[in-house]
Amino acid sequence: MNKHNLITMGAFGLALIASVSVQAAGDAAAGKTKVAMCQGCHSITGYKTAFPSVYHVPKIGGQNPDYIVKALQAYKSGQRSHPSMRAIAAGLSDQDMADLAAYYAADTVKTSAR
Ligand code: HEC
Repeated sequence: MNKHNLITMGAFGLALIASVSVQAAGDAAAGKTKVAMCQGCHSITGYKTAFPSVYHVPKIGGQNPDYIVKALQAYKSGQRSHPSMRAIAAGLSDQDMADLAAYYAADTVKTSAR
């Protein structure tokens, strides 16, 4: 990695920290823009990955937001050890987790159909 990339990443990190301190609560609208990286596995409404559809993942739509945030933090810290979720959670800021939790927690209408 060259020096320029490091500087860019540093600036990005600072921007993330700033956004977390300004806005602590989860924002479902913001979460909606971040779920793309989750949907391959937790398809919005379902219990299964989009592909292959036999791979079982827990349902998170309609789940309590605090539970979702705690679970993501546990993957990030290594308390929970599932390798795919650890890799995903490692890249999430506290704000990302709050937004994603708010989004999935509000996703009850669609989940009730299953
Ligand atoms: C590569 C597939 C994959 C991706 C991508 C993925 N997940 Fe997961 N997720 C899983 C699997 C598999 C589990 C169950 C892991 C376990 O047994 O601990 C899980 C578990 C979870 C749990 C815990 C659920 C529970 O009931 O305890 C949460 C919350 C979660 N994922 C949220 C997310 C969010 C938010 C994203 C996007 C940022 C995401 N996941 C992306 C596969 C994935």
